[in-house]
Amino acid sequence: MALQILLLGKNGQVGSELQQTLAPLGELVAWDIDELDLSQIERIEEAVWNLNPDVIVNPAAYTAVDRAEEEPHLARAVNSEAPRALAEVAQGMGAALIHFSTDYIFDGSKGMPYVEEDAPNPINVYGQTKLDGERAVQQIADAYLILRTSWVYSLRYDSFPTRVLSWAREQVVMRIVEDQVGSPTWSRMLAEFTTELLSDAGMSVFDWIRERSGVYHLAGLGEASRFEWAKAVLNFDPKKDEQIVRELKPARSEEFPNPARRPVYSALKCDRFMDVFGLNPPKWMDSLRMAMERSL
Ligand SMILES: NC(=O)c1ccc[n+]([C@@H]2O[C@H](COP(=O)([O-])OP(=O)(O)OC[C@H]3O[C@@H](n4cnc5c(N)ncnc54)[C@H](OP(=O)(O)O)[C@@H]3O)[C@@H](O)[C@H]2O)c1
Repeated sequence: MALQILLLGKNGQVGSELQQTLAPLGELVAWDIDELDLSQIERIEEAVWNLNPDVIVNPAAYTAVDRAEEEPHLARAVNSEAPRALAEVAQGMGAALIHFSTDYIFDGSKGMPYVEEDAPNPINVYGQTKLDGERAVQQIADAYLILRTSWVYSLRYDSFPTRVLSWAREQVVMRIVEDQVGSPTWSRMLAEFTTELLSDAGMSVFDWIRERSGVYHLAGLGEASRFEWAKAVLNFDPKKDEQIVRELKPARSEEFPNPARRPVYSALKCDRFMDVFGLNPPKWMDSLRMAMERSL
């Protein structure tokens, strides 16, 4: 019998990669909002019961950090209530749940890489709703992994690296903030490591995950300011001759006000993930180099 996998958020940065990497592991059913709108909480239970998967992989989320300040109810439904409903149905049917979360559950005041035990203190609506989603999964599910990640990018989506590449073709002097620090994470790396976990779990996925249930940080290793990240993107650009930028200048966050506050520091330490699963995520810059070589 093949492993039955339900993937949600298949059209997102992480979900689209997972759709490719998970397919060889078993029978994969992949949904996005058209197949199941996660804000319609009352529809979740029946839809998932009908499918009866062995494992649910959930990178779907309301990720518009600024818009969440205006639409807290929708952000709460998708990021807090839907994970609760998924945990309930997973628990009811004996399925494992792999759920993704964010560095934005922290307030950024630590100033050194966050570990899983650090106290969360979200400073925006998105972060609060994601934290409540984590807590619901932890309270309800027996077999779950919460993979907390940071500064996710894909070169096939509107993301920080793709914006830097287009600014570099429009602006001679580019100003990039240097007072926000995180761990840039390639969406494909997340998908590959998640798939590797599930491959190790095999058909006894529920028991395997139950024995390892918990929160894990999984991100590109190390840390970078947005300024350093932008510099690396420009450096790895395979079409450098198209750039008109001549100068990269550091800027302060206050110069680019946004509706939502962001943690100034949110790098993640991934030691627990590496110890428990024996898998070593690459350094953020190595991933970026590979992403730009393979995707552009
Ligand atoms: N992006 C980051 O920098 C970042 C950083 C840390 C953690 N994370 C976390 O990592 C995970 C994956 O993020 P990502 O960057 O891949 O996000 P993404 O590209 O925004 O993808 C999220 C997916 O969820 C879908 N979705 C949104 N509302 C939905 C609804 N009501 N019903 C069903 N599906 C819905 C989206 O569909 P639409 O496109 O149609 O809205 C999209 O396909 C999320 O849990 C996120 O919180 C992301």
